[in-house]
Amino acid sequence: MLQSSVKIAVIVLFFEIVWMGTPPSKGNRHTCSRKNCTVTHGGKAELNNLTHHAFTDDDFNCCLFITVQDLRIHFIQKGLFSKFVKLKRLSLHNLPLQGEAVKNSLMHSGKNKLKLTHLSLQNVGLNNELLKSLIPYLPEKLTELDLKKNTITVFSTNFISNTTVKYLNLSQNQNITIMLEKGAPSLEHLDLAHSNFEWKTSPGIMPMCKIPNLITLNFEGNRLNLSTFDNDMNCFGNLTSLCLSLCDIIDPMTKESFSFFPRLKSLYLNGISIKGLFPSFQNITYLTELSLNDVEYSFKSTLENVNIFRNLHNLRRLKMQNWKLHLLNESELTTLFSPLVKTLEHLDLKLTGLSTIPSVVREMDNLRKLTLSNNSISSWESISENSNKNLRSLFMEWNLIETVNPHFIPERVIDFRLEGNPFLCTCELMPYKNWVKEKKLGEIIKDWTTKYHCFKPRQWTGHTLDTFSPKKTDCQDFNAYVITAIALCCLMVIIVIGTNVYIRRREKNLLKKYNYYHDSRERQKLLSSS
Ligand SMILES: *[C@@H]1O[C@H](CO)[C@@H](O)[C@H](O)[C@H]1NC(C)=O
Ligand SMILES: *[C@@H]1O[C@H](CO)[C@@H](O)[C@H](O)[C@H]1NC(C)=O
Ligand SMILES: *[C@@H]1O[C@H](CO)[C@@H](O)[C@H](O)[C@H]1NC(C)=O
Ligand SMILES: *[C@@H]1O[C@H](CO)[C@@H](O)[C@H](O)[C@H]1NC(C)=O
Repeated sequence: MLQSSVKIAVIVLFFEIVWMGTPPSKGNRHTCSRKNCTVTHGGKAELNNLTHHAFTDDDFNCCLFITVQDLRIHFIQKGLFSKFVKLKRLSLHNLPLQGEAVKNSLMHSGKNKLKLTHLSLQNVGLNNELLKSLIPYLPEKLTELDLKKNTITVFSTNFISNTTVKYLNLSQNQNITIMLEKGAPSLEHLDLAHSNFEWKTSPGIMPMCKIPNLITLNFEGNRLNLSTFDNDMNCFGNLTSLCLSLCDIIDPMTKESFSFFPRLKSLYLNGISIKGLFPSFQNITYLTELSLNDVEYSFKSTLENVNIFRNLHNLRRLKMQNWKLHLLNESELTTLFSPLVKTLEHLDLKLTGLSTIPSVVREMDNLRKLTLSNNSISSWESISENSNKNLRSLFMEWNLIETVNPHFIPERVIDFRLEGNPFLCTCELMPYKNWVKEKKLGEIIKDWTTKYHCFKPRQWTGHTLDTFSPKKTDCQDFNAYVITAIALCCLMVIIVIGTNVYIRRREKNLLKKYNYYHDSRERQKLLSSS
């Protein structure tokens, strides 16, 4: 036993000596100092030409991602990026490139071929001609092509019909025409936000059928005729996410709107104006996420309006910021949300004029995040530490909350934001402060020093919640222990006094008896002797 442990110790010692003896590997070709290579200055090169001088020898073997942005670079060395053996993502953003700089940089030098999968060329001055000359040089394995914010006005599906491009971003290319010619079956994600785009296709063919495998489609900030693609002849069998936020929808909506996307899960309609009827969402049974922030719609308490969600039996996330929910009474709010109570996980009711938490919220057992910021809530009793077992985040910033009773906070809440409320800094606020400390909600404690302020009483006005600390004796409440202790003390005192009094009385009586007896004996003696 002893021998073997000595052996082990010797071996360990030996290895340690060898280990410490070897010099630290210097200039090792296989250790990479960085993989994410960002060019923030022109390096040794002239500022307006990006050349290999901007990189180290190490970089050519190591860089997986290269980002060059916000520089006054006009030219890029020919074939520069094919020198990077492992390069997967290349991003050139906000560069005043001239001529065919992008194309030249992507050309391959020698036998090196670009193995890029992601190419992002945002705001680098690409126009139709430059794009056309660039297309033949796109890397073979490209899956993501981002051409945001250039001046391209024509993009044909022919450009990508034979490629593996899944993600195409053409947003912010003003007045772009999408030519739907050859099919582009690889395309799954298309972003046309803020582009004032237009479709062109051969007459009689449904345009969308050229891109039949779309999963997400972003039309944000465009002028749209919904009925041109929201109909039973579209090819959107796979579409799961559709964004029409900030769109100017020119044809009035009907109850049937959005009924033709059988797999749709997420629908974003923020900031749109609904002039016709509110859609019934009748046939999109998979819908799990619906964003209706800032929707312009005449929302009054009519039977029709309190039933707008009646078909959404799978909805998990609902945003309806800036709706006039205060126009509905408690039972109408219950009707409105009751189809969602079993499934809803996130509910955002910011800026809705509510003055209390609707009681139907209590029924939402799967709710994880509830946002009620910027309302007029001063207190609530509809939820409590025993309700909403899955609620983790409760956001109630900028309401009218003066004090908080921790018993009305669901048990599992770990993120409870209350900044901007007019706190009444009295002893009654201490249970809340203690609750936060007990739960170790560090983020909130940090915010106490800057974002949470006392509004009243006068002597604390303007102080942060962090500095608010009333004298301990002011806030000590008579708890059960103290009361019991005091009661026991009193009892003891009574018992002691009582026994004392009893004993004194007895002694006095005995003395009296003795005195009497003694006296009578003396008297008898005297009588008999006389
Ligand atoms: C930058 O590169 C371009 C094209 O490669 C070349 O014509 C020009 O002379 C270069 N400018 C400087 C300052 O090196
Ligand atoms: C597209 O790909 C097919 C086979 O993968 C090939 O036969 C055809 O020539 C290609 N067309 C173009 C325009 O590259
Ligand atoms: C886009 O077209 C509109 C008219 O439809 C025009 O007013 C606007 O100037 C055009 N924008 C650009 C960048 O060409
Ligand atoms: C919208 O498109 C439909 C069908 O393509 C057409 O009948 C209708 O007139 C268009 N509406 C407007 C306002 O342009």
